[in-house]
Amino acid sequence: MTISRLLFVFLFLRVSIIHTSHFRGGTITWRPLNNTPSGSTVDIQIRQRYSWRRSSVACTDTTIANRVLIGDNTAVNCVTGTCSSWSSMTTNTYCTDYSGGLDVSSGEKYVTKTITLGIPFSIAFVSSAWFANLVIGANSGWNIVNRINTVIRPDGYINASPVATTLPVIYKAINQQHVHIVQISDFDGGDILKCRWSTSSTSNYNSYNECGGVCSGVPGALLYSNNCTLVFTLTQAAVYAAVALQIEDYYNNVSTTPMSSVPLQFLFYGYAVPSGCSTPPSIIGNRPNRACIGTPIGSTVSEYVIAQIGCSGKTIIDFTSSSPVGMTKSTIQNPSTGIYQIVLSWIPTSDQYGPQGFCAGAVDSTNVQSEQWCITFLVGFESPSIIRPTAVQGSASPIGTIFQSHTTFSIQTTRSVSRPTRNGTYIHFKDSTTNTIVQSYDCGWQSEVTYTGYTIVIRFPTAPWIVGHSYYVMFDSGVASGTEFCGPESAPITDPSFWVFDIWNPGHSSTTTTTTTPPTTKTVTTRPISTTSVNTLLTTTGIVISSTSTHSTTTTTSSTSTSTTTTTTDTTTTTTTTGPAVNVMYPKDMEKACQQPVIIMNTVSMLVMVPVQAIGMFVCFSKFATMFDPSKIQAKKRHAQRLKKLNQR
Ligand SMILES: *[C@@H]1O[C@H](CO)[C@@H](O)[C@H](O)[C@H]1NC(C)=O
Ligand SMILES: *[C@@H]1O[C@H](CO)[C@@H](O)[C@H](O)[C@H]1NC(C)=O
Ligand SMILES: *[C@@H]1O[C@H](CO)[C@@H](O)[C@H](O)[C@H]1NC(C)=O
Repeated sequence: MTISRLLFVFLFLRVSIIHTSHFRGGTITWRPLNNTPSGSTVDIQIRQRYSWRRSSVACTDTTIANRVLIGDNTAVNCVTGTCSSWSSMTTNTYCTDYSGGLDVSSGEKYVTKTITLGIPFSIAFVSSAWFANLVIGANSGWNIVNRINTVIRPDGYINASPVATTLPVIYKAINQQHVHIVQISDFDGGDILKCRWSTSSTSNYNSYNECGGVCSGVPGALLYSNNCTLVFTLTQAAVYAAVALQIEDYYNNVSTTPMSSVPLQFLFYGYAVPSGCSTPPSIIGNRPNRACIGTPIGSTVSEYVIAQIGCSGKTIIDFTSSSPVGMTKSTIQNPSTGIYQIVLSWIPTSDQYGPQGFCAGAVDSTNVQSEQWCITFLVGFESPSIIRPTAVQGSASPIGTIFQSHTTFSIQTTRSVSRPTRNGTYIHFKDSTTNTIVQSYDCGWQSEVTYTGYTIVIRFPTAPWIVGHSYYVMFDSGVASGTEFCGPESAPITDPSFWVFDIWNPGHSSTTTTTTTPPTTKTVTTRPISTTSVNTLLTTTGIVISSTSTHSTTTTTSSTSTSTTTTTTDTTTTTTTTGPAVNVMYPKDMEKACQQPVIIMNTVSMLVMVPVQAIGMFVCFSKFATMFDPSKIQAKKRHAQRLKKLNQR
């Protein structure tokens, strides 16, 4: 009797311990739906993301597709600060990711709360328990604490919190020093982001215990707060270490108080290096780590995650991930030996506006995991595209047959672009005869590549071309980066027929280079675009291009080309506004207007025209840039000073 009772108690305790030990970390972030204050309240969208032990919180492909709520359904309460406008929020989330091997399910959910303007307060998800197999905090409770702050920023807007993305469990070999960079970003581009350890001391910014039982969960770890980089060594195999961080945004580099505080808790798992080859797999292509990809709301996103094994004979058995709500992953494909991939599919919804992180790690057949690979989808923004050159001289220059001494190349993009924020983003010029790279430029820093408006210009110090050879150009992901926030990147271009040119062989032709093009005058009638008059005068020795545009709806372009010597001497632009602007300019009209100086070009005078085209296109495009895409005007105005590159490395 006594024995069976004891047994019962013992079993019951065991079961309840297993049942309650199920937390695997999480984060809470927030943003105002409209960051311009009006009235006395603001709608704040709060995003929760938690990970659980999958054997206790089930998640499958079906659960993900059906958007099933998973995990604890506990109240998140206001714990410090001005709590008056907080109404409780529950913690169950829509399943987004799972890993059988790691025994993890993750979910995410957004809710919108109406909050009084001008108040700071902290909300907390406090419950238990983590699990037994932790270096620090075995079977302890968790605290996930976020500071919401609706005080108007010095720039007059309502703040948005930083966003951090991570895999729930990251494998690291024991007894080696590792450097781990946490992917953090902030919608308010100019903010300074800092990371710190979550603390139990109530003297922290939340005035609350931020880490429950897992404070200082990675013994000996060092945290660089400016770039959110962890340097640490794990010493125990098959044991987890919990990382509890707060990510905080400061208005500028002299601010001493943050504007919000975001928790991020995840796990490192130590493994003993297997005998023999132990090189971890790596995620290669199609996008580089920390890429930023513009994805309009409602568009269909399709991205590949491609992993390469580190040791021959191993296979990739799992991709762990952390994905936005609604993203689906294909099964693992094996397109060639040692290469494995999954395909991500997703249609972003309007409540996902802003940065949405995706992280993946590839796990091989000996349970060795790759470095975490994260990309940011910038929902509601478009990535620029590089415009495919057309046969009738269009977006790229030069195409067709050019002189051996040609050194200036330019290509147009669909949106205003700037230099990529990462090094290692290349433009390659390849010789199609030998299929070798003739010249590569790193667009991240090399001065031979310049960005102006909608144009990328590449200037060779010396022309490397061989007479009679044919060349093509390839672009890495992000050669053209948008100017918003994290810089949404152009897709990579690997098609050898995208931009092709040949070097003129004088031996095969008797054409001289002194042809004269007669003057051409074209008149283009456009819609009443605006009351802005644009006067552009480009003076080039032997070439005069003048272009005037007034609200009388007529654009006149005249051009004369007489020589092959080129000296650009002056550029003058005068803009006069004489009345209320009508922001209607159809892309087709602008293309026509902008192409006038370009279309008259023939192959022989191309050499002369290149700088003219570059400047002309730029002036033309930049003048009309704000009218070009009316749907973006609002966003542009609002964020003009605030949004800029921000992905921390
Ligand atoms: C992070 O910042 C620290 C200190 O400023 C610096 O030493 C370290 O190299 C940085 N790490 C990375 C990965 O940028
Ligand atoms: C702070 O920012 C200002 C303006 O961007 C800059 O001039 C200054 O050097 C920065 N100070 C520090 C300590 O980084
Ligand atoms: C990119 O590379 C250049 C040249 O090596 C270096 O000066 C620059 O600091 C690098 N930039 C980044 C962001 O790593």
